[in-house]
Amino acid sequence: MTTVSFDPVSRLEGKLTPPPDKSISHRAAILGAMSDGRVQIRGYLRSADTAATLEAVTELGARLARAQPRGASTDLELVGAGLRGADPGAESIDVRNAGTLLRILPGWLAGQPRGSWTLDGDESIRRRPVDRVAHPLRRMGASVDFRQGGLPPMVVEGADLHGIEYELPVASAQVKSCVLLAGLLAEGETAVVEQLPSRNHTEVMLRAAGADVQTANGRVTVSGMRRIELDQIDVPGDFSSAAFLIAAATMIPGSEIELQGVGLNPTRTGLLRVMERMGADVEVSEHAAPGGEAVGDVVVRAAELRGTEVTAEEVPLTIDELPLVALLGAFAEGRTSVHGAEELRRKESDRIATVVEGLRGLGARIEAAPDGFMMEGTGGLAGGALEASGDHRPAMLGAVAGIASREKVEVEGFEAAEVSYPGFGEDLRKLVKA
Ligand code: S3P
Repeated sequence: MTTVSFDPVSRLEGKLTPPPDKSISHRAAILGAMSDGRVQIRGYLRSADTAATLEAVTELGARLARAQPRGASTDLELVGAGLRGADPGAESIDVRNAGTLLRILPGWLAGQPRGSWTLDGDESIRRRPVDRVAHPLRRMGASVDFRQGGLPPMVVEGADLHGIEYELPVASAQVKSCVLLAGLLAEGETAVVEQLPSRNHTEVMLRAAGADVQTANGRVTVSGMRRIELDQIDVPGDFSSAAFLIAAATMIPGSEIELQGVGLNPTRTGLLRVMERMGADVEVSEHAAPGGEAVGDVVVRAAELRGTEVTAEEVPLTIDELPLVALLGAFAEGRTSVHGAEELRRKESDRIATVVEGLRGLGARIEAAPDGFMMEGTGGLAGGALEASGDHRPAMLGAVAGIASREKVEVEGFEAAEVSYPGFGEDLRKLVKA
């Protein structure tokens, strides 16, 4: 485990392109593998998580025809295995730390004409529930098994599937995506109903692949298909990675940064609405982009912040950024609270515990709730040590807290940042002005 110290800086300045989107990269590799023919993926994220997905789909029969790395991204050409062409020979799939791979891939495998696959991963993945995808898949006729407690390893056997209407018991884009992919292999129509909107990258990409995806009033439908074909996917910058830099520039007086080519899909950018209420100075200019995903540049200037209340309705649109709401809350005046976010307890770590204990150790006045946290802002943080708990987002949270702190922050287990943002430490340093 590596401990990295982040010292206070005077301000941030400069331009930077954040690494490609992790969610969209996972989907591009999986849908690319499900496609017939060649798929160009421009800007596939080069991270530990997305490497696991690429490895999984190549084991399942997709062929990597070309890979051209450029910094944190790679241009790929993938030759798909086809909708019903997953290789039955690849019996065990190691998802490593990638929850998105673990939850989405079974949607493809469950409808295969033959084969049985075991999905397993690292110690943290063995604590991530999979019954949430097994239940709807079973209702579709799939044969799916898991360990006691609804946990991996998970065994998926190919079967004939039929369409269902499924109301999501938790707002989860991963579960929605899994059911929609299985829907492509099922007889008839499959509908997923969500109470609150969650990220819709799968729907956007399925449309690009020729699927008839209908969405209205929280109901998404797809129908069984013989084949899908993806031509080209351009992966935008990851808003969730950019969010750490957006928060840093907001908190450090005198800062002004520009982040270019950032994915601005409104189902991802809930943090911008929350930060606007807190008084942040963030300017967004969207530009035309191919493929249906909004992309643009984001200019952030330092600002004085006030506390805010994040409601349950906002949670799915802000889910991976809620740790940053806590950090911003510590730098704000007044009370900040988040409710309806019990899902945070089921991420790479229990993110309510990791964030509350981590920030409290740096001097924040924050209390955990079963479904979130509440805190009293003190206009800043003293500093100290923060344990990443093997989770990439707390690792980056500690780094940002450190450069904005009065003393410094030592992040224990900083290497976890590689899971979604390779080179995060270097990018932060690039923006530091003496
Ligand atoms: C993701 C969805 C979210 C998110 C995760 C990535 C995705 O999880 O927290 O980082 O790519 O679909 P849930 O769908 O489980 O909420």
